[in-house]
Formats: sequence, structure tokens, C-alpha cells
Amino acid sequence: MCDVEKKAPQKTPRVATGDRAILPEGAKTIPVYIMGKRYEVPETLTIMKAMEFAGFKFLRGAGCRGGICGACPTVYRMAGDYKLHFGLACQTVVEADMYLAQIPFFPANRAEYKIEEIGGAAEAIHALYPELFRCVACNLCTKACPMDVDVLGYISALKQGNIKKAAELSFDCIQCGLCASRCMGEIPQYHIAQLARRVYGRYIQAQAAHLKARVAEIESGKYDAMLQDLSAMSKEELEKCYVEREREPDLASPGTWQPNEKQYL
Ligand code: FES
Repeated sequence: MCDVEKKAPQKTPRVATGDRAILPEGAKTIPVYIMGKRYEVPETLTIMKAMEFAGFKFLRGAGCRGGICGACPTVYRMAGDYKLHFGLACQTVVEADMYLAQIPFFPANRAEYKIEEIGGAAEAIHALYPELFRCVACNLCTKACPMDVDVLGYISALKQGNIKKAAELSFDCIQCGLCASRCMGEIPQYHIAQLARRVYGRYIQAQAAHLKARVAEIESGKYDAMLQDLSAMSKEELEKCYVEREREPDLASPGTWQPNEKQYL
């Protein structure tokens, strides 16, 4: 008997299409369903680009295109699968037979407050958002989060009065609102988390000494002239200034690099 060399199944490389409307040779398209209608789109595109390829134009529901602004939450199901999936249209690559729905905005109660007036106790957050205690710990909020934030974790922490934990757990929240869209307690989790981070930053976290000094400099007018100069520049001058700016080398050890121009340090 001789050994037969096992070969791994060959994958056909995907042909990237970029933003091209006329596809390069070898590019494959797959069916997706947008608002219930079938479209053939290149398999390498994100949901957002696939929708644009299909002819949609984003006036709302798109912002940074980089997974940061939270403007493009998307809900989808795969054909034949009961499970609901969640993602960001600008980050999630299309798959065959996705049934897509965009949720660019989900209404959620946002409390009015002045952060400098409410104090740093958890009771302030409880008073502004009493619906916090309607949480039944079903965890649908966490399952809906496209950023893998432990939403139930921070809501539970806040119920226990632990603002630091809530601020840390919610740090990656991009305010897309999908958590609130799934909540049977009708809690606006992402607004509450934002308040928790504000309270934490204002009242609990130790203040950085250098930040305090820099704020004092700003208030004293140290940068006013520079800002006026920048404001007076043309777009071309600003671009030149930006391109030619001194930059920290990519591999510089933290805290070691200093610019030659020290006027504003
Ligand atoms: S467009 Fe900003 S997160 Fe998708």
C-alpha cells in the first residue's frame, strides 16, 4: 500500500470588485434580498457597498463607513434559518441569500440632564432612567450588539450601582441602538451607558494632570492665534499643512518622541 498524499480542497480565489459597476472577469455575484427584493451583488462587497451596487443611495444610515459611528445597523436572516443576525452594513460582507433590513435609527428615550449638576452617584442614573429596573436579564440586547458589547453586563452593573464597571463594559458602544430595538423592558441601554461613561469621566475617574494643564492653556488663549491662522487658510493650504506636519514615527516607543516645533507644547 502506498501513502496517498491528501490534498486540501482548492478554494477558488475571490475576485475583488471594488466599487466597479462593470465587474472584472471572474467576479462572482450572489443573491441578497434588500427590502424583500432580490438583487445579484458581488460576493466580496460589504452590505453597504452591495446596496450601492444594487442602486441604493445612502442619504441616512451611513456615516463613517469604518465601523465607528453606528449609523448603519442592519438586521438580517439567512434563507431557511430562523435565527436573527445583526451587523454593521459598512463592516459585514454579504453572503448568499441574506434577507436584509436597515435600521438607521431606533427611537429610544433620552433623558435631559446637565452633567455638572447631577453628581456622581448611581442614584442619579437610576433617577434619570428608572426603566433600568425593568430589565429581565433576557440578554437579547447583548445578542443584538454588533460590537460584542456585554450590554446585559453593564445594565446589571448599573442596577448594582457600579458605574466604573458599566463605563468600562460599554466602552466600545457606538450608539447604534440595536440593543434598544430588542429590549422587552423598553430600556434605552445605549443612552444609559453613555450617561454612565459621562458620570464616570466627570466624577469618578482620576483626572490626568497634564490634561488639566492643557485645558488651562486653552482657556488662557494660548492657541487662539494658531486657530485663527488655520481658519484663514484655503483648503489647499490646509491640505499642504496637514501633509507636511510632523508625525510621530510608527515604531516610536510611547512617550519618547517630541516634535521639533515645540511652540505649542
Ligand atoms: S457607517 Fe459608521 S459604523 Fe457603519
